[in-house]
Amino acid sequence: MAQVNSDALVFYGATGDLAFKKIFPALFLMIKRGHLHVPIIGVARGDYDLEKLRLRAKESIQRYGNFEEETFARFLELLAFVGGDYTDPQTFLRVREALGAAKHPTHYLAIPPILFPSIIAQLEQSGCAKGARVIVEKPFGTDYSSASDLNKLLLSKFSESSVYRIDHYLGKRPVNNLVFFRFVNSLLEPVWNKKHVESMQITMAEDFGIQSRGAFYDVTGTIRDVIQNHLFQILCNLTMEPPQTLDSESIRDEKVKVLKAITPLRAQDVVRGQYKGYLQEKAVSEGSKTETFAAIRLHINSPRWDGVPFFIRAGKHLPVTCTEILVRFKHLPSAYSSIASKPNHIRFRISPDVTVAFGMLIMAPEEDMASVLSEVQGNPTPFPKEKDAYERVLTDAMAGDPTHFARQDYVEEAWKLVDDYLHSDSPVFAYDPGTWGPEEVNELICPPGGWNNPTLQKK
Ligand code: BG6
Repeated sequence: MAQVNSDALVFYGATGDLAFKKIFPALFLMIKRGHLHVPIIGVARGDYDLEKLRLRAKESIQRYGNFEEETFARFLELLAFVGGDYTDPQTFLRVREALGAAKHPTHYLAIPPILFPSIIAQLEQSGCAKGARVIVEKPFGTDYSSASDLNKLLLSKFSESSVYRIDHYLGKRPVNNLVFFRFVNSLLEPVWNKKHVESMQITMAEDFGIQSRGAFYDVTGTIRDVIQNHLFQILCNLTMEPPQTLDSESIRDEKVKVLKAITPLRAQDVVRGQYKGYLQEKAVSEGSKTETFAAIRLHINSPRWDGVPFFIRAGKHLPVTCTEILVRFKHLPSAYSSIASKPNHIRFRISPDVTVAFGMLIMAPEEDMASVLSEVQGNPTPFPKEKDAYERVLTDAMAGDPTHFARQDYVEEAWKLVDDYLHSDSPVFAYDPGTWGPEEVNELICPPGGWNNPTLQKK
């Protein structure tokens, strides 16, 4: 059912945290830009009604969006509410009734996956699944086997082209710019390979802890939370081959090929860390060995990348909140080799600001035979009407464009890479909050030339 505009949006979990922080503000902006003018039906369990949902939507948009009355009035005209238990067939008959004449509704499951089986079954039995598409939230399973079961369940009632698996990193413009930048600039392709690239490293640092998400985080950890999904997507964008055409499947095919060429994670390629104080966080189990930091090394066994090491590092309670990529280049042998003090690099900052920087060597001041590294930077001008990641992915899903969603084979291949490691027993090293993870990292998982620790300019 690709490329058909949806004519209604039903979102389950309307009173939840995700709806409050992300979904209401995104829907509001979609309405404001004229991208959403179909009925929006919020579904939730418990003691709720339309009036309460309207108040919650208002509070959410006031807190996390750019609230203004005129758009909000349009929002209220579109918003409806259906209350009831997700296992009760009556709930879905009421959803069907609320859908009225809609032929291509989108059902957005913003609820824990444990509820998916009953919802999917009820959607079909009530007739709500007919002509519909379904959006599912991350986490998509907790390992290969659960993800594959989830896929089987979804695909028993919906076709793959009607399933939209959210990874909000694919809604981020700077993440998509990685592919764009590589393939629109003819300068890069000749050097974007094992002959010239020495290593690549991706750092996703957050300067805060697990906040109030102990129950979720303690059974998840950094590898499942952000590496298996968000950071693998970044890695694929950096390393995929150019697609034959720009349709969604050609692009997604290339990403899957990258994952298939990666050697699954081995114990010697990972260092896990846990910040001191984690065990005292609410809802964390006693003696938990869940990681709040991980650094990994990967190899892509393809003609382009064979032998190049790729490093990924992510963690909570690190010195800054920043996602950055550093691609280092090899020195070419020449009479100048001994003067080249550092490797060339390209640095992509994804957030909090967006930067593309080339690190080049220039003559050191007042010395003719010494070099210093200097960056030539391009800072894309901030785009005032820039879409938030959720707004972008929901707009795409409503329009039937699956490019920026994870396909079935992609999520399964991504899980295969970490599955054996996650099911094995491995050490977790303690680190002090506000540092770059446990000391063992620099010894065991360290890119040639060291980790690039992003710094932020003080405002
Ligand atoms: C989520 C993770 O998927 O991504 C969080 O569950 C993480 O732990 C968040 O903080 C980071 O997203 P962003 O868009 O703020 O970089």
